[in-house]
Amino acid sequence: MPFPPEPTVRPTDPTQTNAWKKLSDHYNTLKTAGISMRDWFAQDPSRVQEFTFTVGDLHIDLSKNIITSTTKNLLFELARELHIDERKKAMFAGEHINTTEDRAVLHTALRRPMEDEGKLIVDGQDCVKDVRYELNRMYAFAERVRLGQWTGVSGKAITDIVSIGIGGSDLGPVMVYEALKPYVQEGLRVHYVSNIDPCDMYEKTHSLNPETTLVIVVSKTFTTLETMTNARVARTWLLDALRKQGAITTKDDEARAIAHHFVAVSTNLELVQQFGISPDCTFGFWNWVGGRYSVDSAVGLSLMIACGVQAFEEFLHGFHAVDEYFYSTPLEENAIMLMGLLNVWYTNFFGASSHAVLPYSQYLHRFAAYLQQLTMESNGKSTRWDGTPVTCNTGEIFWGEAGTNGQHAFYQLIHQGTHLIPADFIAFANTAHATQDGNQDIHELFLANFLAQTKALAFGKTADEVRAEGTPEWMVPARVFSGNKPTTSIFGKELNAFSVGELIALYEHIVFVEGSVWGIDSFDQWGVELGKQLAKQIVPAFHDKDALSKQDASTQSLLAFYHSCRSYAHTMQK
Ligand code: F6P
Repeated sequence: MPFPPEPTVRPTDPTQTNAWKKLSDHYNTLKTAGISMRDWFAQDPSRVQEFTFTVGDLHIDLSKNIITSTTKNLLFELARELHIDERKKAMFAGEHINTTEDRAVLHTALRRPMEDEGKLIVDGQDCVKDVRYELNRMYAFAERVRLGQWTGVSGKAITDIVSIGIGGSDLGPVMVYEALKPYVQEGLRVHYVSNIDPCDMYEKTHSLNPETTLVIVVSKTFTTLETMTNARVARTWLLDALRKQGAITTKDDEARAIAHHFVAVSTNLELVQQFGISPDCTFGFWNWVGGRYSVDSAVGLSLMIACGVQAFEEFLHGFHAVDEYFYSTPLEENAIMLMGLLNVWYTNFFGASSHAVLPYSQYLHRFAAYLQQLTMESNGKSTRWDGTPVTCNTGEIFWGEAGTNGQHAFYQLIHQGTHLIPADFIAFANTAHATQDGNQDIHELFLANFLAQTKALAFGKTADEVRAEGTPEWMVPARVFSGNKPTTSIFGKELNAFSVGELIALYEHIVFVEGSVWGIDSFDQWGVELGKQLAKQIVPAFHDKDALSKQDASTQSLLAFYHSCRSYAHTMQK
């Protein structure tokens, strides 16, 4: 592939803007005056109103952040100086803002409605038309599987789907599948295999009946080591098991079995065919969809089968509602812009390095893992989109856990530790499984925790309040909560396909805003390449002396240890 041309549009150094200097002064003023959310709330009855927004049908409350009207105005001034609105429009229009790969960034085209066909022609392609064409193929296939019309080679309906992929070809589908568990068709189960650790494949497949199993191999490139290895292992497992069961005997049967039990999702149709999967069983997407931005493309095929076409359409509507908001809301009223800018405020002025995401929804238990790739693969960069070095810290370390489990694990550090950790709290008014404990609605108990935590983090507990409880003086400091820990509350009606789509789009755009401030290409991922290359070079060193001698001393010593352990393990087995 030829190298892309040097970009002509240079990023502006954010640290050299007037707004940055003003933000720096403003930060010092706040520090000197003392940040007090208690006072801010007491002095300004309209604070909640000023910092609460409706995005799609999500209610987003930013009032418990370290933000005043001045902060907000300066952050928007920064966005104006950096022309973020213009960059946003360029992204939606399909300009090649992914400079190091010379690609458009058009995940927003994946969820544009049918009526938009003909309105987005990029690089000669009618993107919306192509998306809808592929969606319709997938919908037809998914319906056949759901209705039991698509069968395994021995004529039995599919009950289990094994989806093989990694990174963006796995994290999104897994997270959404878990989130939408209440909507999964009875009798259908999806098992996601990602790790090259053979234990992952074993655990997900050993109890399955191959006759009723459909394997989806999901890989944008169809070259990823883990996915291709697992795909071959799955093929061997499936054919061996079918043979043992007497379901297939001849070579032709094998080909028929692959045709019934394997489908692929990829942009690399040639390699898919070489693997033995026909074009009819291949669902495509485009190089303008980044892996971590692809769950709403064919990569979501397992979700479509599990939850149905209607749910998938609602999922897309959720994304689109947030896209529309982000695109058309003026900068100074745009909550998503402000959320991205606030993250910059904490990272670059307060020195925050991590960001917690705390869904008060058990079904969102994989949301933090999903966001880790979206945010960290996108914005973990030290080079700007034109190859020059960044001028300030970039990226945030995203992590989290579904509430209230986190409360009994790491919240201590957020409340009283020395690190400033902005946290996003996510919850829904309704639950899929309303349950009473006597007179107590358990969902309300759950939400009370959500509200209590954000309150404690914002307002803390003073020494006088601790003393008033009769605490001995020496223990008072240990029981004081400083408060002023920033949180954002994101509240939805209920967790469903629409709201999951909204949440994903919300974070996609937050990532975009942050990356735009830092001047980085949030859509490439060169940082994962070196490890991949080295792993390929190390593989032969396990059994080839020449290859071993070319390794560094540390690798050689670890391999020597490995061999001694392996012989020991074999001895034990005998
Ligand atoms: O981890 C690197 C990466 O390239 C991700 O960006 C991507 O989501 C993942 O690998 C899987 O890639 P593919 O879908 O091509 O198998």
